[in-house]
Amino acid sequence: MAVLQRTGMGLALLRHKAFHCGQHQSCAAASTLNFQDLEVILTKTPQPKPKDNELLFGHAFTDHMLTIDWSAKRGWDKPCIHPVQELRIHPAAKVLHYATELFEGMKGYRCVDGKIRLFRPMENMKRMRRTAERAALPDFDGGELLRLIKKLITVDSDWVPRSEKCSLYIRPTYIATEPALGVSKSTEAKLFVLLSPVGPYFHTGFKPVTLLADPRFVRAWPGSCGPFKMGANYAPTIQVQDHAMREMGCQQVLWLFGDDHKLTEVGTMNLFMYWINDQGEEELVTPPLHGLILPGVTRKSLLELSHQWNEFKVAERDITMKEVIRGLKENRVMEMFGAGTACVVCPIEKILYQGQILEIPTMTKAKLTNRFFNHLTDIQYGRIPHSWMELVSEDTEVVANVTASRMY
Ligand SMILES: Cc1ncc(COP(=O)(O)O)c(C=O)c1O
Repeated sequence: MAVLQRTGMGLALLRHKAFHCGQHQSCAAASTLNFQDLEVILTKTPQPKPKDNELLFGHAFTDHMLTIDWSAKRGWDKPCIHPVQELRIHPAAKVLHYATELFEGMKGYRCVDGKIRLFRPMENMKRMRRTAERAALPDFDGGELLRLIKKLITVDSDWVPRSEKCSLYIRPTYIATEPALGVSKSTEAKLFVLLSPVGPYFHTGFKPVTLLADPRFVRAWPGSCGPFKMGANYAPTIQVQDHAMREMGCQQVLWLFGDDHKLTEVGTMNLFMYWINDQGEEELVTPPLHGLILPGVTRKSLLELSHQWNEFKVAERDITMKEVIRGLKENRVMEMFGAGTACVVCPIEKILYQGQILEIPTMTKAKLTNRFFNHLTDIQYGRIPHSWMELVSEDTEVVANVTASRMY
């Protein structure tokens, strides 16, 4: 791994390298994506860091990003960590015409011992590779990409908030860049990673949401790309989300599917219901991974915790609106919540469905919602040591000092 320093070759050459590392031309290529080939170009103009209490989701970015280009001819170019800069892609790049794009969303936390850890990052690497396959983008070594992401975080470690309410959102992104029209597999691609410090999802305790459940709008269907994290899944949801907010007074959309109005996902979260089922058992139920929903890392974690606790029945099966309505009438529904990286869990208090307002009693106790939130955040901030957390580097403070002294 090379860290460029100010030398006699001057700033112009360094700028040239920084530009081309982001543009995939100058770096020699390797057939596999390889951490050892990493080149690091540090900023000479570090940006002021926002205050923790001023952080809005996805608005602030750290000083550096990671870029790796691929082409069918050369394979993977050298990965490069460099100052955040605009992308330069040809206007015919396939991503701009056929939406060949995918991304991940994962988080790093400043734990109570001051070290930075990631929450189950290999789960995101695996999901990213599955999505890349579905998007006809080239496969890569997830372990190597994770090593590169950890290095990027180490370089920008001062940006990781020191509050147990804030975190570092990590956004790996992968786009098709071949400058040619025609719906076909791209011969060129760009993988880049941005880091964004983020504030608390809930500033002052849980804020429950009201959902619009309108079966006219469908997010995914059998055979669709619903289980993959592609940008193309999200664009068509924005107008519906806007309609739910502006015209219907709801905060999120409850995505239904099928003639029986199956509940699938809440906005960009997986859905859970905690209730007394038809057999009179206390049950946590969530829709199965049958091709309509994104396999969330939070969903998987909550299911694993519930199985370990072994205190109530856990089921992955379809839930219909008819069942929810009957459960509510019979006072059997206790809690409903969404689950995802951004919020961990988000309580649901109302569902607007076919002219009715269904009142969900989640907040009367929020027993399980609270327990999940507290337990998972205890793990994430290192209050409960857990194998799900992966250290970014042994001593990030020292590494940050070394790199700072090498800035040019
Ligand atoms: C559609 C959708 N469902 C569910 C989730 C939750 O997934 P995760 O827990 O991995 O953040 C997300 C967020 O990434 C999402 O976009």
